[in-house]
Amino acid sequence: MKLRRWLAAGAVAVATATALNVVPATAGRPYDPAAQSLRELAKRHGLYVGTAVDMAALNDASEPRYRELAASEFSTVTAENVMKWESLEPTRGTYNWGPADELVEFARKNNQRVRGHVLVWHNQLPAWLTGGVADGSISKAELRQILREHITAVVTHFKGKIWQWDVVNEAVSDPWDTPSTLHYKGFWAQNLGPGYIADAFRWARAADPKALLFYNDYNIEAFGSGNPADDKTQFVYDMARDLRAKGVPIDGVGAQGHLGTQYGNFSTLQVAAALRKFAGLGLATALTEVDVRSQITEGVEAGDSAEINPRLQASAANFSVLMQACLAERHCLSFTLWGFTDKHSWVPGAFSDPPEGLATVYDENYQPKRAYHELKADLIFSGPPYVLPRIPQHPRR
Ligand code: XIL
Repeated sequence: MKLRRWLAAGAVAVATATALNVVPATAGRPYDPAAQSLRELAKRHGLYVGTAVDMAALNDASEPRYRELAASEFSTVTAENVMKWESLEPTRGTYNWGPADELVEFARKNNQRVRGHVLVWHNQLPAWLTGGVADGSISKAELRQILREHITAVVTHFKGKIWQWDVVNEAVSDPWDTPSTLHYKGFWAQNLGPGYIADAFRWARAADPKALLFYNDYNIEAFGSGNPADDKTQFVYDMARDLRAKGVPIDGVGAQGHLGTQYGNFSTLQVAAALRKFAGLGLATALTEVDVRSQITEGVEAGDSAEINPRLQASAANFSVLMQACLAERHCLSFTLWGFTDKHSWVPGAFSDPPEGLATVYDENYQPKRAYHELKADLIFSGPPYVLPRIPQHPRR
């Protein structure tokens, strides 16, 4: 009886998938899911697969492959830098919308959704703002007003064009910070106190009631330490729960997903459990900046496969952990890579002592790496129609 129900459910899923035309029945030729793009394969799950976009690379005519892949493989894009405060408002009161508008237009042409990144962050702020606060020419009251105006101006400018906004980014400290007890860190908490977080969500909601509003951070992919007092994921969970309890308009939590193969990292089950727990607060989730870097040794530089292969395999496995966890949780709306080729990855620039790299799913020559194929495999082999309930075998008579 139970089995019949399962089989029926499987059959319905196959029928639905076929009706939705996500499994093209090409006459005479077997359907080859491996030939599909990430975005096509993700569609079957209602999942959006994205990448951060580097506008310089997108506009580099000598590298057409970047633009082609950004368009063909992804169904959502994030501005890697051009929606950050220093880019949008380099001079007080003068906005530079050009590059960000260009990305939004690229997304429209390619039928992609846009993740807005980022409204409030302590990094990549313009010098007029940090300098003004440092020399006392901008008071605390004025700073709060400036933040409100910035959020309002930016969200209003892109109104109706942004699917998810990263409203507040990286507001919580790490166990290696001082003091080591977890706390709200950085420029905004120091100057305005943690109340700026609720304010930011309210101001963003007022400016575009239809955009989903996210809190975004790294090292919150799983509940980890066992000790709630120094568990960053727990701290963010408590923050989100309190914001919800106060009626603050937060819709989701984004886990960035910047991993490194030199660390222990989490299992699929742990990440899935964390995503489920956030969903329990009534929140959507997303993997927002996924990359998995490795240390670059002399052996790696010299092309020693004994050093390269374990890195590529571990990287692929970690991409897969995050993808499978996201697929398992129906509230995990999107899976965004922080760049898709090692040619344009932020990792070598940001992690140089020791040097790190090999963090994305295509190599420097735009050849897909093992990680790319594993992501595809995860999308293909998850749920119906490719994975159906087992068919019991009986002894032959
Ligand atoms: C990084 C960009 O990739 C770099 O190009 C830039 O120089 C610094 O910022 N977390 C975030 C992203 O939320 O905005 C950061 O992006 C990477 C870490």
